[in-house]
Amino acid sequence: MPNWDKLRDDFPVTRKYSYLANAAIGPIPVTVYNEAVRFYHDIMYHSEHLWSDWVVKIQDTKDQYAKFIGADSGKDIAFTHSTSEGMNIVAHMLSKQGSVISNELEFPSSNLPWLNVNPNNVLFVKASNNNKILLEDILKMISHNGHAKTLVTSHIQYSTGFKQDLTALGEIAKKNRLVLVVNATQSLGASHFSVKDYGVDFVVGTGHKWLLSSFGIGAIYIRRKYLEDLAFQPLFFGQSGQRKKESYRNNMKVDMSKDATKFEVGTPHFQSIFALNAALKYLSRIGILNIERRLLKLTDYLIEKLRSLGLEILSPVENRKYRSQIVLFKPIRNPVNLVGELERKHKIVLSARGNGIRVSPHFYNNEDDIDKLVKVLKKL
Ligand SMILES: Cc1ncc(COP(=O)(O)O)c(C=O)c1O
Repeated sequence: MPNWDKLRDDFPVTRKYSYLANAAIGPIPVTVYNEAVRFYHDIMYHSEHLWSDWVVKIQDTKDQYAKFIGADSGKDIAFTHSTSEGMNIVAHMLSKQGSVISNELEFPSSNLPWLNVNPNNVLFVKASNNNKILLEDILKMISHNGHAKTLVTSHIQYSTGFKQDLTALGEIAKKNRLVLVVNATQSLGASHFSVKDYGVDFVVGTGHKWLLSSFGIGAIYIRRKYLEDLAFQPLFFGQSGQRKKESYRNNMKVDMSKDATKFEVGTPHFQSIFALNAALKYLSRIGILNIERRLLKLTDYLIEKLRSLGLEILSPVENRKYRSQIVLFKPIRNPVNLVGELERKHKIVLSARGNGIRVSPHFYNNEDDIDKLVKVLKKL
């Protein structure tokens, strides 16, 4: 079992704050900071001399990422700079195939790329009471729309923390011949995730939350059959997507690689990718199942304490299968003002979302952070 108290020391943010806003931005641990600084040192002192080492490290990061999400190969991963970029790639590949079934709880990055390609092509499953997207409602939508070809969903919803049952949804997608596209931004680094277990076709995400890698680093997983199918071509293209890289004779003819690099455009953002490299090593050492268990324990504690204050929990927590590390509750005051006050006066960092306050601890948080929050809420 990891020594959680010791791991807390890896996060200097804890010296100043009770930081409970990891669903917004994850503070980086010291090891990721060191990696980023090392890169800037290298580019200052060695620069081009280290190019070939950097190229090897990029592939290593892709291999690690593939392992982290339960994919077969780093060749199925392309680096993006954000979730939105990844979702745009998928939307441009798939929109022409037919309608897209999404839902009304999604973060805008899941839906806007599809609406931009074709505003009439997206169908929204409504949330049932208590902020859930029920499989039966998705099934109804599928049976009423025979022309639907794609299912889009977050694994964990950004606001309410509702966790979709991807194993069941994967089976539904397979049975109905739908392509399954998952936004895993709120899940990677906090919850077990496996493209193989779930039968997912595309995964998009970003590193600046639970993956603890800071900004400018996202990734997309593309199932091999789509990489090999010539019907699915990238909208933008550059030499990093050529089969033979760094050949200066290849500017007369497109000779596209069959791996996911064809979706990467231009020289890589090495520093962010190497930050992700360090973060993946760090998270893998701790173990994702340990992290998931720890987060559920911390949020069990949080829910109990909030309930003891008589506060309404807006997240669907009644059934454990919908539970995640994100908890939304209804405060007695305006959430935006209250979040501002808690930060200014008490150094407790949270997020206001809709009519609630979102609490999103990572594994370096502890019961003391929660007690501090509850104590202040009680006073207010
Ligand atoms: C579910 C989800 N997707 C995506 C994002 C961010 O998207 P992007 O990386 O495109 O800024 C967020 C949060 O900011 C999110 O909660």
